[in-house]
Amino acid sequence: MNEIKAPKGTRDIFSPEIQKWQFLENSIHAYYQKFLYREIRTPIFEHSELFSRGIGSETDVVQKEMYTFSDKAGRSLTLRPENTASVVRAVIENNLFESVTPLRFYYLGPMFRYDKPQKGRYRQFQQFGIEVFADESPQVDAEVIFSAVDFLKNLKIADIKLEINSVGCPQCRPGYLEILRKAARAEQSGLCADCQRKISANPLRIFDCKLPECAETAKRFPLLGNHLCSECRDHFKIVREALSWMNVPFLLNPRLVRGLDYYTKTAFEVTSGQLGAQNALLGGGRYNNLIKELGGPDMAAIGFAAGMERIILHLRHLTLPRPKIMFVAYQDPKWLPNAIQLAQVLRAHGCPVYLDYQGKNLKKQFKKADKVAAAFTMVLAEDEIKSEAVSIKDMASQDQIKISLKDLNSWLKKNY
Ligand code: HAM
Repeated sequence: MNEIKAPKGTRDIFSPEIQKWQFLENSIHAYYQKFLYREIRTPIFEHSELFSRGIGSETDVVQKEMYTFSDKAGRSLTLRPENTASVVRAVIENNLFESVTPLRFYYLGPMFRYDKPQKGRYRQFQQFGIEVFADESPQVDAEVIFSAVDFLKNLKIADIKLEINSVGCPQCRPGYLEILRKAARAEQSGLCADCQRKISANPLRIFDCKLPECAETAKRFPLLGNHLCSECRDHFKIVREALSWMNVPFLLNPRLVRGLDYYTKTAFEVTSGQLGAQNALLGGGRYNNLIKELGGPDMAAIGFAAGMERIILHLRHLTLPRPKIMFVAYQDPKWLPNAIQLAQVLRAHGCPVYLDYQGKNLKKQFKKADKVAAAFTMVLAEDEIKSEAVSIKDMASQDQIKISLKDLNSWLKKNY
């Protein structure tokens, strides 16, 4: 029979990499709770309309990358390609505007995009992200960006670049888009077929094309930064000032655009010099109209999401403390009940314990203890059982001591 393999663009994660994931997940919980963000968990699939309306029907994500299917009742459902639209939906549906203060959420979990798989790009990938609602202050933009960069720094991820831009708002962007369309039409022959198609549908996305000829042509296009309304200009000025107060170095990239349509005003990305083609570690920005567009109140919002696989690629050299495994060995199968009870006591104390139920003799059990890289092996033999004691062997030094069960607690306190 043919071997069944994992679908293209998905991966299994197991030890030792899984320890890095657990470390990263714990770091996210600890870091964002300090800023009063609360975790939110939304469904992995949603009504397809949420994403076509939320992300924008002309985006690559909606046009080419969604995993959409009909359920048995004929509803069109989609595996979430991102989580911002879902969080907004959840906040509106559960009326969290009324009950949660401050309206700050973080999340982690799998997202799905039918992308071309390569290093750092998968069809099922994990994101963590944050979303802040109901605060229009430009200082919040700076704080959100600061937290993203500071979080990566705390993980000792170096060689990162923060780029920021303002993508305007419904007051100033439509006028600029017309100017951009005109310029792009005049230089159409210098653009690839995909960018030519974008001229009418989504001309800002031309700036995102990776083809050198398109990038060269786009260099001559007018920039949104010169066409911002005074509100967007002032907002962006304060964001930049606040980033300086917070000591966050940034690069102003006037051609930075985002792949999702909901952004207004501040947009940003953090890239890494170590990732090759898929170098975006995280991206985000303001989306002041999305909540209203999805049926909620007129409320400002900002957030970002980071690719966790890409962060894990940077944790290559992270060495995590090895767990101090305790192996419980018994000389004769008749002492197995005592060994089981001892293992229970040890686990209740917080020790990671391994007990080999098939342990035939002590020699074989000690071999197993080496295989699981036990730090200590506790031995129960005739002598220990009779004297209500246990022998403990330090597997590194090979030193062995015998202690009374009465003294077990104090030994554990010293050694765990
Ligand atoms: P995004 O830029 O589409 O933004 O994705 C954010 C991050 O997810 C990327 O920078 C990248 O690290 C990671 N990522 C995206 N696609 C893949 C993939 N196929 N494989 C591996 N990693 C990937 C968003 O998703 C927005 N929801 C961010 C946001 C939150 N904006 C406001 N709030």
